[in-house]
Amino acid sequence: MPTKFYLPFLLSVLLLQFSSLIQGQQPYLNNYQLDCYDESHVNITRGFACNGVKPSCQSYLTFRSLPPYNTPLSIAYLLAVKAAVITDFNELSSDVATIPTNDMVVVPVKCSCSSSKIYAHNARYTILNDNEDYYTIANETYQGLSTCRAMMQANPIDSRNLGVGDDLKVPLLCACPTRKQVRKGVKFLLNYLADWDDDTHTIAELFDLDERSVLDANELKEDDLIYPFTPILVPLRTTPTKIEQTVTSPPPLSPPQTPVNIFVDSAPSSKKWVFVGVGTGVGLLLLMILLTSLFCFYKKSKSEPRRVSSAETARLADCSPESQRYQSAAESLTIYKFEDLQLATSNFSEENRIKGSVYKGSFQGDDAAIKVMNGDVSIEINILKKINHSNIIRLSGFCVHDGNTYLVYECAQNGSLDNWLYSNQYWKSITLNWKQRVQIACDMANALNYLHKYTIPPYIHKNLNTSNILLDSNFRAKIANFGLARSIHSHDQGGQLQLTRHVVGTHGYLAPEYIENGVITTKLDVFAFGVVLLELLSGREAVTEDRNNGEELLYASISRVLEGENMREKLRGFIDPCLRNEYPLELAFSIAQLAKHCVAQDLNARPSMDEVFTSLSKVLSSLSDWDPSDGINCSKSLSNGRQMVYH
Ligand SMILES: *[C@@H]1O[C@H](CO)[C@@H](O)[C@H](O)[C@H]1NC(C)=O
Ligand SMILES: *[C@@H]1O[C@H](CO)[C@@H](O)[C@H](O)[C@H]1NC(C)=O
Repeated sequence: MPTKFYLPFLLSVLLLQFSSLIQGQQPYLNNYQLDCYDESHVNITRGFACNGVKPSCQSYLTFRSLPPYNTPLSIAYLLAVKAAVITDFNELSSDVATIPTNDMVVVPVKCSCSSSKIYAHNARYTILNDNEDYYTIANETYQGLSTCRAMMQANPIDSRNLGVGDDLKVPLLCACPTRKQVRKGVKFLLNYLADWDDDTHTIAELFDLDERSVLDANELKEDDLIYPFTPILVPLRTTPTKIEQTVTSPPPLSPPQTPVNIFVDSAPSSKKWVFVGVGTGVGLLLLMILLTSLFCFYKKSKSEPRRVSSAETARLADCSPESQRYQSAAESLTIYKFEDLQLATSNFSEENRIKGSVYKGSFQGDDAAIKVMNGDVSIEINILKKINHSNIIRLSGFCVHDGNTYLVYECAQNGSLDNWLYSNQYWKSITLNWKQRVQIACDMANALNYLHKYTIPPYIHKNLNTSNILLDSNFRAKIANFGLARSIHSHDQGGQLQLTRHVVGTHGYLAPEYIENGVITTKLDVFAFGVVLLELLSGREAVTEDRNNGEELLYASISRVLEGENMREKLRGFIDPCLRNEYPLELAFSIAQLAKHCVAQDLNARPSMDEVFTSLSKVLSSLSDWDPSDGINCSKSLSNGRQMVYH
């Protein structure tokens, strides 16, 4: 029996040994980046073969700063690494520091052998424009860190069927040292992106190496040419340091695209064409693209069915336990160009302003909300990029420009909940009906339960209030504003106790243990949720002024309602008069009791979000055939409550 298993194993080990002998290092990509469909160099164009000693290793990529990828934050998202890694390694001042155009940063990555037996560090990219395809993404966006062939291999969508919103896997080319290299003391391979004025000599000099070792690592001969936007593997014996920027060479001129160049320089004999000039080189490339696309045209019959993009699959989940569904994390964010944001928002015009620093934008017909922020936005970005839940606002991407960060969110057509509950200033005086209110509460509970229990690590929102609950066109709730959120570290899951001295949040929603002792637990969100629930019931604000110009806290009033005699009568008086008794009193009573538990002074007396969600789901399902008279009109005088924010 064992020999049956051993034999193929031994054979493959021998084969591997043998192939690593004949293919000691990695062959240079040469000028084959354009061979998207041509099979003849596929072993080179698909990426670096897994011929190293280890199946995965520490490796380094390089990237030249080019807007919009000109900050550690945006480059980090493009290359799927942590921004801090780029900032620290390259000794930059901050995650959002602008890196001068063309300066090269070194990006440490983990390089692993993929299922298709090439070494890669995988990133994700979402298509923004109609004219993007595997080639432009690999050559332009990723500057040659990937190839169209490698991308085609990693993604099921045919190049010609790519569309805006498609989320693609981008294998970034990297490699681990081969046995031969290890023997010579090589520890890492750095993927250096060659530029117009690079040659193996200058590259070796930059890393203080012998040119021979660079040539060997890429199976190059002394007089071989290297081409711009191709990876050159640099064998390193020690950890690299940041690249000292020499006086930056002017960026390549935009190529003159005259047909003369294309045809004159396409002669195969002109081997030194790359150095003839930028224009002619690109001319030849253009011709090759032309030929490739003709080839594509003839191969069209082979096209695969168009995959449904992740944006299309994001559907509203019902708020019933049966249909609750946790979508897998969507790690991909789009990095927008500032000009595109200007265009989308009519240059951040007053008409496009939704509220404060939030603007409405339109991207190819899709509405979005764009929030302008300064300061550290990494918390919000890092949380939202991992979350894909229909009741949590979706962050589609961002842009860093001039010290500001612009966050681009999905649009919630009906604005924030506060506008619908107690102000009739902006929104026709239509109030939310009973079922809509229960649905909103249920949606919120669903989202919070997800944050508290199903994300890794779990999160606490910490700043729940009615202005952070957004409503979509169907009045389904989406929780927004994660600027104060924080994770619960898994090691204190048991006690779930964290303390802070820095109390922030919105007055009227803050749990007593947090204000007094800075205690942070998920019960903080439960408390704030209870306050929102009371607002939904009563149509009153969390904090209002009382007769003596003092303040009245909504959460304090519920215990007076639900005590002593005539509780149901008192509750009728508490419930929003706009609902005009169009609600089932018994259900209202149970929701009021739930809210009262949520705002209990003792955090241990508060239910978990899980329990809250289950109760509300039951209430909602019992309302399934409840038929409200829609569009209740209700005008209320504007209450003069305020929202105070601690900072
Ligand atoms: C690619 O490599 C495989 C095995 O390593 C080999 O069998 C095949 O012939 C190569 N293909 C080309 C086009 O060189
Ligand atoms: C590849 O990308 C570079 C950098 O953006 C660009 O200058 C060059 O023209 C591209 N090559 C082709 C053939 O499009």
